[in-house]
Parts: sequence; structure tokens; C-alpha cells
Amino acid sequence: MNALSLVNITHRPIILGVVLSFLSYFCSFPSYGFHEVDWSQDAELTLGSPRENIYNLSDSDFLHAIEDGREHAFRWPVDVTGLLIPYRPFSQFLNEDYNNPLRRWASRLSKTIVPFRNSRGLFDWMGLLPYSKELDDKLSFLQGPLVKHYKGNPSGVSFIKRKGALGLTFGCVSCHSGQFLGRTIVGLNNKRSRANQFFMMAKKVVPLVNSSFFKMTTKADEEERKMYFLARENLRAVGGVTPEVLGLDTSLAHVALSLARRNEDSLATRSSHFEKYPRKHPLESFPSSSRPMPWWNLKYKTRWLSDGSLVSGNPILTNFLWNEIGRGTDLKELEDWTEANKDVVQNLTAYVFSLKAPHWTDFFSVKTLNLSKAKKGEKIFKKSCQGCHGRYEKNWSDLSFSGGSREELFKTKAVYYPKKTRVIDVGTDEKRWQAMKYLAPDIMRLGFSKRTGSILRPQRGYVPPPLEGLFLRYPYFHNNSIPNLCALMEREDKRPKFFIQGPSLNEETDYDKDCVGYPVGNKIPPDWYQDKEAFYSTKRPGLSSKGHTKVFYTREGNSKFSEEEKSDLREFLKTL
Ligand code: HEC
Ligand code: HEC
Repeated sequence: MNALSLVNITHRPIILGVVLSFLSYFCSFPSYGFHEVDWSQDAELTLGSPRENIYNLSDSDFLHAIEDGREHAFRWPVDVTGLLIPYRPFSQFLNEDYNNPLRRWASRLSKTIVPFRNSRGLFDWMGLLPYSKELDDKLSFLQGPLVKHYKGNPSGVSFIKRKGALGLTFGCVSCHSGQFLGRTIVGLNNKRSRANQFFMMAKKVVPLVNSSFFKMTTKADEEERKMYFLARENLRAVGGVTPEVLGLDTSLAHVALSLARRNEDSLATRSSHFEKYPRKHPLESFPSSSRPMPWWNLKYKTRWLSDGSLVSGNPILTNFLWNEIGRGTDLKELEDWTEANKDVVQNLTAYVFSLKAPHWTDFFSVKTLNLSKAKKGEKIFKKSCQGCHGRYEKNWSDLSFSGGSREELFKTKAVYYPKKTRVIDVGTDEKRWQAMKYLAPDIMRLGFSKRTGSILRPQRGYVPPPLEGLFLRYPYFHNNSIPNLCALMEREDKRPKFFIQGPSLNEETDYDKDCVGYPVGNKIPPDWYQDKEAFYSTKRPGLSSKGHTKVFYTREGNSKFSEEEKSDLREFLKTL
């Protein structure tokens, strides 16, 4: 009797059971104290119960998990990562003056002007933000324990030691923390990140400098030389494109073009042939940029990415995969790492799902909010918006609410976001969702996807996101094309075609409180015009600000709301 004939009708349930428990082992990584999470495409949320504590941990285990997870969000935890920059010789080289022969030679040959003079300058150029525990402590939305030590480095700067050599790399928060009025908000997208540009620059400069020359000119020791050697080797397997504009991220192209430099097997093994002659890929020229979505929305959703194309699997594992493909890492080593570090994955997952959105009153006096206007805006929202964006139950409607502060009155008591996250085409720029059809097959081929139960499926449209913390999430839409909420409520042809994504430091000049977002037109601070990279033009492919107009305008182009009503609606949106 051969093994196959055993699979008769009566045995099927048992075999199915074995297969399912095998699968669920890999999909949800259960371990002591952690409950299983349904990451499948059938997952449904209980209405009004967001997955804030996604593993259903006890209070003390939960605090412990998110404290540890937070460390991993700040510091890249994958120690088998393919790209580590030997920090000591690198910063010494940067701190040298421009007459260092290596520096002169490299920048001349690569025609790249290295636009920073020391490692602090590099971090600033990359858009990494200062992090202050003291400021954090003052904000109501950040509860729970804080990371123990930052050593004064900006968010995302990470060090990994390998055989005594200190390697520099960058953690999740380099893309997933943003600035609002001088404060660093963890979970917000970094609006001025140059992570992709950094890779593109390294790709130009590093191939020109071999490891012995590197060692000689920077006085690196042998372990540092080896670290540089490996990074240089792995960069050969990294492809990418520069984002069209500051603040967007080219992760889809970065991953696809890197895979086009590897073999097409399930481990995407290295290939010196494809490193030299990468396979042609549509994402070389097809715009696919998007910005990271805020982390505090995760607890409300059942599928991931701006287009909801990750329909199954823990999105944190997908992030490790994408980031490590983009760093030239050996995928077998990455698989082994995730196997051996389930607690890291779990704690990081617990942390990002636990985050809360900031409130308007964390930054501005409650006197800047008008209750009767906000209540009128709420009525409009209920009629026109909540079907897609979810229902927000406010404290001001709670008859039993008494004794709380005025700040509390404006807060949201409960959010009812659909049980299953939807994807809807409201006519916004189609390039990003279309681009997924070029990446999905490359990812689905990988053993990593099968092992982790991840399914990436192209979609039509985008997820209508939950709107908490909306007031600091500008510019809006997946492609950052809408500078503020006044622009959102304009007819397509009247929306600004140009704006500048300046820094957010000064409350008076850098933020339009009435329009909720960037100042546009003659309100743009004059010094912002010096920062050409931050110019946003909606005329470029992938950057159009079209769509999402049916809720505001009739087919004939007439506004459904008066200016007064639009202003009331904005007043309500500020309180989310
Ligand atoms: C180089 C920048 C970058 C880094 C580093 C990065 N991400 Fe992201 N992340 C993005 C972008 C861009 C998207 C959105 C892509 C899209 O949806 O089009 C994203 C999406 C996500 C999502 C899905 C959000 C949602 O609402 O569906 C999660 C979760 C996430 N990232 C977590 C992480 C974690 C955890 C890390 C660290 C392990 C990390 N990211 C590192 C850029 C980055
Ligand atoms: C038919 C579904 C639908 C309705 C109704 C709808 N929206 Fe949206 N909304 C979307 C989708 C989908 C997106 C994402 C578009 C994108 O990123 O390209 C979106 C995006 C947004 C954003 C940008 C969010 C961000 O983080 O960038 C805002 C703000 C917004 N909608 C407000 C509203 C308001 C206010 C109303 C009611 C007047 C409304 N929406 C009605 C589907 C809808």
C-alpha cells in the first residue's frame, strides 16, 4: 500500500486537521501567553472592538510586549541583515574634509555630490527626526512605558554589532515617524524621508570603492573591512528608483527591481548573471510610489497596504521581507531568523497595533475648537462619510458623560470601522493600485510568502482609511497629493496643482489650522521656496490629485455643501 492510497475519505478530516495546525503554526506563531491571531482573508473584527491588544495578553504581559516591541521599532532587529555600514570608519570618512582622496574620487566618479559632511548631517539629510522622551511624556496618546535609552540619536538610527564591528542601519521609525509642530510622532509617516535616495546614492558610490581601498583610506580594521565587503557584495542584488517627490516611498519598485537581480526560485537565490544583467521590469518606469499609512489605524483593519492588497498574513512579516529584499539579504537566513525570533515579531506586532492617535488638544488649546460647529459637522459626516470611513461615537453625545474635562468632551468614545476592510475606487490616482499587478507575482513565488500565509492580490482602488489623528496626517491620499482639507473639498480642477511640503515647526506659519494641513498659495512661508525637492506638482504621473469628489459635488459639478457646512465638517474632522 502506498502512502497516497491512505488518503481515503475517512482520513481526510484528520489529514486536513494536521495540515491546518501545521499552517496555523507558521501563520500565527503561537507561544506562551500569546493567543492566536486570525491573519487570514476571512478574518472579521467584532464591531466596536478594535484589535488594540492583538494577542489578547494580560495587562502586565501586554505592557511588557509593547515595551519590547517599541525597541524593535526604533532599532532594526534583524541581525542577519544584508546591509550594515561599518560605522566608525564611515563616520570618520564623512568627518574628514573634502580633500580626502577617497571622498573626492568617489563623488567625482559617481557624479554624486554627497550632500552631508558628517554622520549627523547624514541623519538630517535622510529626514530622521529628533526624539525626545520628555516631549512624549506630555502627550496623552502615548501611554505605556518608554524606550530605555536613545543615546541622543534620531529616530531609526540603529546599530548592530557583528564580530566586534559596529554596523549602522535604519529601523522602522525612520519611515514610520513624522514631525508635527516640532514633535516627533511615532506611527505617523515621515513626510521628509530620504531612505530610498540613500540606497540610490550608495549604489552609485560603493561599487567604485573596493574593500581594500576602503580599509586603507578609512583605517578600518579587518572586521570592519569584511562588513564593508559584504555590504558591497549585497548591494549588487539591490535595485530601486528615486521617488518622484520627497515624502513618497518607492518600496514596490525597490523590492521588484531587487528581485529582478536574483534567480526566480522560491528563495530568490543570488545570481551573478542577473546582478549584472537584471531582468527588465515594468516598475523601472511605472510610477508606484506611496506613503506609509499611520500605524494607529492597524487595529481597525483586516488587510494591509494602501490598496488593501495584502489580504492575508501578518503585515509585519511582509515588512521584514520587503525591507530585507531591499537590503540584499539572503532569504534563507531571513526565514531562519524569523523562526528563531518569533518573540521579536510578536512584540513588534503587539506594539504597532497598540498605538493611539494623537488629539488636536495635545497641540492646541481646547478653545480653538467650536462644539456647536463640530456637532453640525458630525451630522454631515454621518450622512456622507461614515459608510466608508467608519462611525465615530463622540463623548459629547454620551448622556452619561459628566465631570470630564472639556478636552475629554471632544474625544472619541468608540470607533466602529467595518468588520472587514474594504477597497474602493473613488477615482483617485490609479498608478499605485495598478502597480501591484507587477509586484504581486514576484512576491507570491517566494517560499517566505507561503510559509507565513501571506497573500498579495492586486486590487482596484484604495482602502478608505480610518480617520483618527487626521489633522496631522496631511498631505492626504495615498500619494500625498492633497495639501489640506479645504483642497479635499474643492472640485478637482480647483485643487492646488502646486504646494510645498515644508517642515512642521512653527504653529503660526507652517500649519493652516482652518484648512487643516499645509498652507498653500500666498500663505506658503517664503523660505520654503528654497527647498525645491519639497515642491509637489500634481501634474506628474502618479501624483495627480483627482478623485474622491462625488461626496462633495454633483455630476454637474455643483457643490453639495455650502462653505459654512464644509467648515463645520472640517471642525468635526479636527476632533477625530
Ligand atoms: C523605507 C521606508 C519603510 C521602512 C523602513 C518600513 N516601512 Fe512600513 N511601510 C512603508 C510604506 C511606504 C508603506 C505603505 C506602502 C503602501 O501601502 O503603498 C508601509 C506600510 C506598512 C504597514 C501597513 C500599513 C497599513 O495600514 O496597511 C505596516 C504594518 C508597516 N509598514 C510596518 C512596518 C514595520 C513594523 C517596519 C519595521 C520592521 C516598517 N514598516 C519599515 C515604508 C517603510
Ligand atoms: C465611497 C467611499 C467613500 C466615501 C463615501 C468617502 N470617502 Fe473619503 N476616502 C475614500 C477612499 C477610498 C480614500 C483613499 C483614497 C486614496 O488614498 O487615494 C479616502 C480618503 C479620504 C481622506 C484622506 C485620508 C488620508 O489619510 O489621506 C479623507 C480626509 C477623506 N477621505 C474624507 C472623507 C470625507 C470627509 C467624506 C465625507 C464627506 C468621505 N471621505 C467620504 C472613500 C470614501
